[in-house]
Amino acid sequence: MERRTIGAAALDVGAVGLGCMPMNWAYSASQQRGDRSLRAVHAALDAGVSLLDTADMYGPFTNELLLGRVLKERRADVFVSTKCGLLVGDQHVVANGRPGYVRRACDASLRRLQTDVIDLYQLHRADPEVPVEETWGAMAELVAAGKVRALGLCAVGARAARRGGADLYEGTIRLLERVQQVFPVSAVEAELSVWSPEALERLLPWCEARGVGFLAAMPLGNGFLTGTLTPGGGFEPDDPRARHPRFTAEMMAANQPLVAGLRRVAARHGETVTPAQVALAWALACGPHVVPIPGTKRERWAVENARAAELVLTPADLSEIARLPAPRGSWD
Ligand SMILES: NC(=O)c1ccc[n+]([C@@H]2O[C@H](COP(=O)([O-])OP(=O)(O)OC[C@H]3O[C@@H](n4cnc5c(N)ncnc54)[C@H](OP(=O)(O)O)[C@@H]3O)[C@@H](O)[C@H]2O)c1
Repeated sequence: MERRTIGAAALDVGAVGLGCMPMNWAYSASQQRGDRSLRAVHAALDAGVSLLDTADMYGPFTNELLLGRVLKERRADVFVSTKCGLLVGDQHVVANGRPGYVRRACDASLRRLQTDVIDLYQLHRADPEVPVEETWGAMAELVAAGKVRALGLCAVGARAARRGGADLYEGTIRLLERVQQVFPVSAVEAELSVWSPEALERLLPWCEARGVGFLAAMPLGNGFLTGTLTPGGGFEPDDPRARHPRFTAEMMAANQPLVAGLRRVAARHGETVTPAQVALAWALACGPHVVPIPGTKRERWAVENARAAELVLTPADLSEIARLPAPRGSWD
């Protein structure tokens, strides 16, 4: 697989990563099985993926424990990205950016991951109660202590940013400029996909200008862009997409032209090329500093997604995708 070098710490990773969140968090729990997820991770690594993206809150904790079983066996094959700063309560998630907490969270992640160093340690969300410089300073001390190789910052999602009425990613860029004064940012993780391209406006250019890597989260539109979800097909009751305004039967039907466009492009590249691979190749084409991290817990899809690194879209493909209708339905 093509390699990409990103960020101040010159991180060298396979061009396509693996988002490990669906294995233990955010989608239907009834579909989550450790043995199947482990097979998916190993298959992705065998196909050239190196970046595994997790967080202490995925589970919480169980996703890191799962990856610890992989790292124990094949540490040299893995570039592990994990995150701190969000605590999961019964009904809510809260930020915690206190330096003492960050130090404890890192030690706990190292234990769960069965490793002595985290390749990329990301701040999941800034804590409004703690100056971000203090949180980032504690994270920088972890680099000095050799527990972490590089630091990253996750953007508040496009959905949450819009709810605040702020310019999209304005707050994230302000935070990035503050933390850069303390210690270099190696990577930013934020949503980027054919149906959520907002990061292209300001956030991606900000990263590119400073040599900061960009991990494209949710590059498959939470599965929609793969064309495998049927409008009205229904989701498990505990799957957040069952209540999401872009995943109602009406909106999924209205947004089919996006999937049809990806299918048309896929067909030009061969019978076996899928809309998911085109969606990932589009993210790769957004810049040499972009590494998409598609999420899956299935071996077949992990391999399919890894192979997207071989698909190079032509200028005609990219302009056809750029002309696709804007997605319908709000995120809120
Ligand atoms: N920092 C943040 O705040 C943040 C927020 C969200 C996500 N993330 C990161 O970004 C990663 C990706 O986001 P995501 O997983 O939510 O969304 P995604 O990658 O856009 O889509 C994942 C969904 O697509 C399905 N899928 C994956 N590959 C497929 C294929 N080739 N064909 C058909 N369906 C396929 C998966 O199904 P199965 O699960 O059933 O395999 C899952 O339902 C996460 O895993 C996480 O690491 C970070």
